[in-house]
This record gives sequence, C-alpha cells and structure tokens, in this order.
Amino acid sequence: MAWTWVRRLARIGGYGILILLVVAAVALTFTVGWRPVIGAKKRPLTSRKFEATAERMRRGAYLAHAVMHCMPCHSTYNEKAEPPVLLSREGGGRVLYEEGGIRIVGPNITSDPETGIGNWSDDAIARAIREGIAADGSVLFPVMPYEHFRHLSDEDLASLVVFIRSLPAVHSDLPATKVPFVISRLIQSVPRPVTEPVPEPDVSSPVKHGAYLADMGTCSDCHTPVNAKFQPIPGMELAGGRVMVSAPGVAAANITPDASGIGYYDEALFIRVIRTGSVRARKLNWVMPWWLMRDMTDDDLKSLFAYLRTVKPLHHLVDNTEPPTQCELCGQKHGLGNRN
Ligand code: HEC
Ligand code: HEC
Repeated sequence: MAWTWVRRLARIGGYGILILLVVAAVALTFTVGWRPVIGAKKRPLTSRKFEATAERMRRGAYLAHAVMHCMPCHSTYNEKAEPPVLLSREGGGRVLYEEGGIRIVGPNITSDPETGIGNWSDDAIARAIREGIAADGSVLFPVMPYEHFRHLSDEDLASLVVFIRSLPAVHSDLPATKVPFVISRLIQSVPRPVTEPVPEPDVSSPVKHGAYLADMGTCSDCHTPVNAKFQPIPGMELAGGRVMVSAPGVAAANITPDASGIGYYDEALFIRVIRTGSVRARKLNWVMPWWLMRDMTDDDLKSLFAYLRTVKPLHHLVDNTEPPTQCELCGQKHGLGNRN
C-alpha cells in the first residue's frame, strides 16, 4: 500500500527526492504510535511578534538564501541555466511533484494575503518552519525540512520570519498538496512542538558552528544514502551514493574525510568548490545548491568545512564521471559502484 506511493515518489529527484526519505522514515518507524489516529501533536499559536530590525532582515535573507536554501522548493527556476536563474518572483511557490493521486507543492510563501501567507501571524509562520504545522493546524508534508529546522535558534527564527514577511506579494494560485490516505495519516506522527527556548548556536568553535550550519543546510538529506526502504543507512552518514532522480546519473558525493570522499580537500579548495561550483575542472550539477551556498561568508564556509573534517571517514567510491554500476555498500547504481 504505502510503498506503491513511495516507489512512485522515487521518480522525483533533486529536492523532491527528500520526500521519499520522510515518507519512509515515517512509515517504518515504530514510534508512529497513535498519532495517525488522534492527529498531530501541536501547540496553540501565541501572539508573539518579531520586531523587523535591519539586522534581522539582513540575517534572515542570509539564512533563507545561503544557509537554508528555501527558494529551490518555493520558487520556479530555470535549472538549465548555469547557475539556475529565478523564473518568477521569489517565494511564489511551485509544484514539486505531481503524479497519480499525489501532488507535493512548495506553497507561495510571499506576503500575498490570498494565495500566499500574508494573513499568517508571525508565530504561525514560525510554527510552520520549525514545527511543521500550518496556520490552519494541518500537518505540513515533511519534505519541508522542519525536522532539521526545529534546531534553528529563536533569534535566527525571528530573523527568518522577518525576512519571509518582507517578500513582495506574488499572486500565484497553486493547487494544494494532495497526499493519499495512508500517508496523510502517517505524517501526523512527524510534528513535534518546540516548547523550550532554542539558544543561539554555539560558535565557540568552528566545528560546533559548522555542525549547526550543516544541520540547517540539510546536507544529510542528500548526502546520506538510504536503503531499499528509504531509511538512512546506519554507518553511512554523508557517504554519498544517493541518486538524484531529476538529474539522471547524478549521485550525491561522499563528503566524509576518507580518501574516497573529500579527504584530499583543504579549506581553500572547499571554499573554491562552493564558490565556483567546480571541483577543479569538474563542474557540479545544479542539484547541489552550491549556487546558493556560495554566498556564505568565508568564516561560515570555514566552519562548515571544519565540521566536515570531524565526521567519520567512510570508504565509499562515488564518481559521477563514470557510468553507473550497482554498489553493494549503498544498494544504488552510481559511478564506481562496482568497485565498492
Ligand atoms: C526540500 C524542499 C523545501 C525546502 C528546502 C523548504 N521548504 Fe518550506 N515547504 C515545502 C513544502 C513541500 C511545503 C508544503 C507541505 C504541505 O503542503 O504539506 C512547505 C511549506 C512551508 C510553509 C507553510 C506554507 C503554507 O502555505 O502551508 C512555510 C511558511 C515554509 N514552507 C517556509 C519555508 C522556509 C522559510 C524555508 C527555508 C528556511 C523552507 N520553507 C524550505 C518544501 C520546502
Ligand atoms: C539537494 C541535495 C543536496 C544538498 C541539500 C546538499 N548537497 Fe552537496 N551535492 C549534491 C550532489 C547531487 C552532489 C554531486 C554533484 C555532482 O557530482 O555533479 C553534491 C556534491 C557536493 C560536493 C562536491 C564533492 C566532490 O568533490 O565531488 C560537496 C563538497 C558538497 N556537495 C557539500 C555539501 C554540503 C556541505 C552540504 C550541506 C551544507 C550539501 N552538500 C548539501 C547534493 C546536495
């Protein structure tokens, strides 16, 4: 039952492929409990308001673009351009996937009161981003990365909301997300209210700061391979191999410090890769959001790299310049898979 949908979803790629992970994670976890029956856990909305300071606007724009890359899911781009260029106004939304009885829409998050979120309160937007509950109390399909975003600090959340609120209104009437019955109930178990203050990220060391940036940048959603049941494979964190279906033949890279990963990188090369979208002469596919990440500050990129240096080195050859072959380690077909 649910798995047929998951298979269908398997054909969507890039950002869309994240859908798989969450559906599967939900369908297979034993902690599903009673939520599918009694509905999601959620907290009531408060009347809090985030003061729109210039500093928050600046920080919010930086987070939305460079760090958390919201827009590939919430705007239309010409992905064939290098780098991709916006086709319409930012935040106007897009249909991410549509097939059979299922449709996943990255909604209009501009200030348009009718087709966007212009009428939502600050706290409603904040709750949607970190806790996965829409203004009307419904559960957001977890392709919206709220499971990562729940770790966003309170002050960063305020900045992000201030920036999102400032997006010029775009009137774009998109169809609604449509999820078949079983999955629509299963996802009720995903949202978890954030009831404790989330402190500022620990920037006392580049590694700790980098861990925060990697979480907000959702690196693991693409770079950690998943098994046949779309569960992240334990012991293969950030080891790559996950195939991006929207970009045929493109698998996410092994970004662990192993020799088969990015062990040979130094900080300068990492920064150059993100800033240029090329690893020396080899160009990176647009699915990798280097074209948004390249606006990260030097310090933030250095922290991100410092963190990547600390993850477990894992041997897993992945090379998109080679023809895809079956890989025993991750179960996917990717370049050099037969050498693992
Ligand atoms: C991987 C794709 C993806 C990314 C990245 C993403 N979103 Fe979303 N977002 C979605 C989808 C899909 C939905 C709608 C889910 C549904 O309809 O059930 C959504 C819903 C929302 C909503 C609720 C809007 C409504 O009308 O229901 C808000 C607000 C939102 N996202 C803001 C953001 C912000 C801010 C960021 C970046 C910090 C972001 N999103 C990043 C996919 C994404
Ligand atoms: C939406 C999916 C996606 C997300 C999110 C993502 N990546 Fe990637 N990344 C890819 C893909 C796919 C490739 C391989 C591209 C290619 O070979 O053309 C890649 C390649 C890379 C490379 C180049 C490795 C090499 O030498 O070949 C680095 C470095 C990298 N990613 C780091 C990161 C970091 C750090 C994050 C999080 C901040 C991140 N990526 C988030 C999909 C993603």
